[in-house]
Amino acid sequence: MGGVQSVCLRLFRPLDFLLDVIQARAWKVDNAKNTFLLGNYGPVEKELFEKNLNVVGNIPAELVGEFVRNGPNPQTIPRGGYHWFDGDGMLHGVRINPDGTVNYVNRLTDTNRLKLEKSVGSSLIPRIGEMKGKSGLSKLMAYALKTSLRLVNLNKGVGSANTAVQFHDGKLLALVENDHPYAIRVLQDGQFETIGRHSYGGKLKHTFTAHPKIDAETNELIFFGYQLHAKPYCTYSVASADGELLFSTDLGLKQAVMMHDFAITKEYSLFLDFPLEFHPKEMCSSPSYSAFRFVDRPCRIGVVPRHCANAEEEARWFEFRPGYVFHTMNAWVDEDSQEIVLYACRSNRVQLDSFSRQWELARAEEEESGANDKVFEEDTTPYPHVYRMNLKTGATTERALCTEESGRRMGCEFPTINPFCVAERTDMSIWHTWIWIAKTQPSRESLRLILSRTAKWLVKLTLEKESTEESACLCPETTPSNPSSWRTKTMGIC
Ligand SMILES: [Fe+2]
Repeated sequence: MGGVQSVCLRLFRPLDFLLDVIQARAWKVDNAKNTFLLGNYGPVEKELFEKNLNVVGNIPAELVGEFVRNGPNPQTIPRGGYHWFDGDGMLHGVRINPDGTVNYVNRLTDTNRLKLEKSVGSSLIPRIGEMKGKSGLSKLMAYALKTSLRLVNLNKGVGSANTAVQFHDGKLLALVENDHPYAIRVLQDGQFETIGRHSYGGKLKHTFTAHPKIDAETNELIFFGYQLHAKPYCTYSVASADGELLFSTDLGLKQAVMMHDFAITKEYSLFLDFPLEFHPKEMCSSPSYSAFRFVDRPCRIGVVPRHCANAEEEARWFEFRPGYVFHTMNAWVDEDSQEIVLYACRSNRVQLDSFSRQWELARAEEEESGANDKVFEEDTTPYPHVYRMNLKTGATTERALCTEESGRRMGCEFPTINPFCVAERTDMSIWHTWIWIAKTQPSRESLRLILSRTAKWLVKLTLEKESTEESACLCPETTPSNPSSWRTKTMGIC
């Protein structure tokens, strides 16, 4: 960053500080009590590389490679508020070597946002946790002024690369949904080096979901990106197996929404126009939140051919009752009924700032009474759900996928499927088609593994009290060329 640019940004610091203080007082923000800055969620202060870790138990001889976890690890924390999604991306790697030795490494991804904020010594890019009230709107306006003065170059990206990773075309991609991917080099000993912001040779013109899909047969990378401030609100793209961006096409959305995930079948891509909408002006009037508002209108699922020149023209939309889906499990076309089937984790409604409130409430209740599940019996709990769209008639149906023996819905999130079974028929699957679902509630019996065909419990794991659940990594033992011998190993960290 140039000297003049740096000086100009520093001139904004009194205003930034004032808005921070006003916001913190108005919202009674106390970062010292923020769940997502404490315990297992708390920032990791040091970057480490440790070789020859002590291994408890036995690692299967055929399990060789690196388990990589991505997550937010804030380097600067605004006084006005911190949200779970706001931290800078840090990769953690557990390298299992062919000789059975294990290394550990953690590294911050060297994003342009991190470099810029390091250079001025403070937070510059507005966080989700700050987008509330008049002070939040003032922060957004101050940020808009900085960008219009070219003190922050939006062309270089402002993402934190903090959400997920995807390996494709020989590159590890660190992902966040408001920016391009960051390409990461993984060294032989397991260490990470940030190569840089990956733009497919300058062809990529939109943001990039944290949950792209890979077709196991074609090795294509299928993805989308959404933006909030202007059309196109959502753009769909496909990259070939060797990393060439084949096309990008506007989905034609009329309203900006938070679209975190999507799904693919062998023939189609499915987009979730669900009613978590972006209404920044309401930051001034809403008593509880924020620029994102859950609106009482139908959910729409857009079905687009895998390869298409004009998604807006070719999309076919199916409507469902209001609700929200952060994460999908799998989708496929049922050849018998000519229905597209989508499994997902659905909640009746969603409110972005409810994450921290729920967890604060849970912690308090659990400490007080030892209770766990009851705290979360409310509309915002996601549970397994199936959507069906008839391609012949246009008819739709939906239902909860399974319930516990008591008849209660089974809260769940962060589904993970065997990567070779993406877009494969899951409900008629043979035994290798596993889905891992982490339960949302912070209770001791927190991780659950279900067999998708029967939707019955198979495993409950008991965790330490302060542990929290995340996506697991399912490692097929052999390649798809011999599916009858597939066995799946599950690795997870807490
Ligand atoms: Fe996600």
